[in-house]
Amino acid sequence: MRPRHFLTLLDLSGQEFKDIIDRACELKAMLAQGAPHELLRNRVLAMVFEKSSTRTRVSFEAGMNQMGGSAIFLSPQDTQLGRGEPVEDTARVLSGMVDAIMVRTFEHEKIERMADFSSVPVINALTDDYHPCQLLADMQTYVQHRGSIQGKTVTWIGDGNNMCHSYINAARLLDFELIVACPEGYDPNPELVAANSDRVKIVRTPEQALPSSSLVSTDVWASMGQEGERVRRMKDFEGFEVTLELMSLADENALFMHCLPAHRGEEVSADVIDAPDSVVWEQAENRLHAQKALLEFLLC
Ligand code: CP
Ligand code: NVA
Repeated sequence: MRPRHFLTLLDLSGQEFKDIIDRACELKAMLAQGAPHELLRNRVLAMVFEKSSTRTRVSFEAGMNQMGGSAIFLSPQDTQLGRGEPVEDTARVLSGMVDAIMVRTFEHEKIERMADFSSVPVINALTDDYHPCQLLADMQTYVQHRGSIQGKTVTWIGDGNNMCHSYINAARLLDFELIVACPEGYDPNPELVAANSDRVKIVRTPEQALPSSSLVSTDVWASMGQEGERVRRMKDFEGFEVTLELMSLADENALFMHCLPAHRGEEVSADVIDAPDSVVWEQAENRLHAQKALLEFLLC
């Protein structure tokens, strides 16, 4: 039987997404109180990283430890994956030894192939197309500060990238409106946009996107793997930096989010991201709590 994978947010129902957020809040409180929660005792997570990471690696590894299990970091330099062993073979071998496999890679199709050949849950920890784990944390952060996001307007400013695609899926599952402000040539996947045309709108300037927005989110202009396009992108994204002036166009209670790492003075100004009430640090911390809830959901 195919195990329960988490390749995109659409592997969850809206209710399951909300349950994971609630559980993440409970697990966060338990950790703060020092309450034991060794729900994954002796369970092992393999973590395949073909791209760099700070938050994802540490949150999964710390989360497994806190839940009584352990995690193994695998990079292409140190494994046979880097020497051309097929992902199908790797998936079959790893899934005979561990309880779940987390993968950060380039092509989304690669993680789909791994999932097809794995007998244990495969978790998408970022591909070129999606970053669903980040959205668990972003939505948990929103709910903790402002309550339900249903019916709210969310603005995505910048590249129509993996994060933007996951915001589109979140909009569908949690029933909010998403306005994407991106320069021409940087739209999110047109098929995904068309499939969600009832709630996703694309505009060409942040000024058009911000009025009545309850949450403003952005990301780097050149994602991992796009370093060669950096100079052109810096030019193409002129006018898309989230500044205090732009934030003042959003709802007065609007939250600003960034999945990090951030480039101050490019996609966001320092006074926005470093504001005393910025939630980006809590958003990053919530990766830990949200993924612990996800691991429990997939493994227990
Ligand atoms: N936001 C995020 O996924 O960060 P890392 O690249 O550091 O894991
Ligand atoms: N869009 C970014 C997200 C980093 C967490 C990237 O893919 O590099």
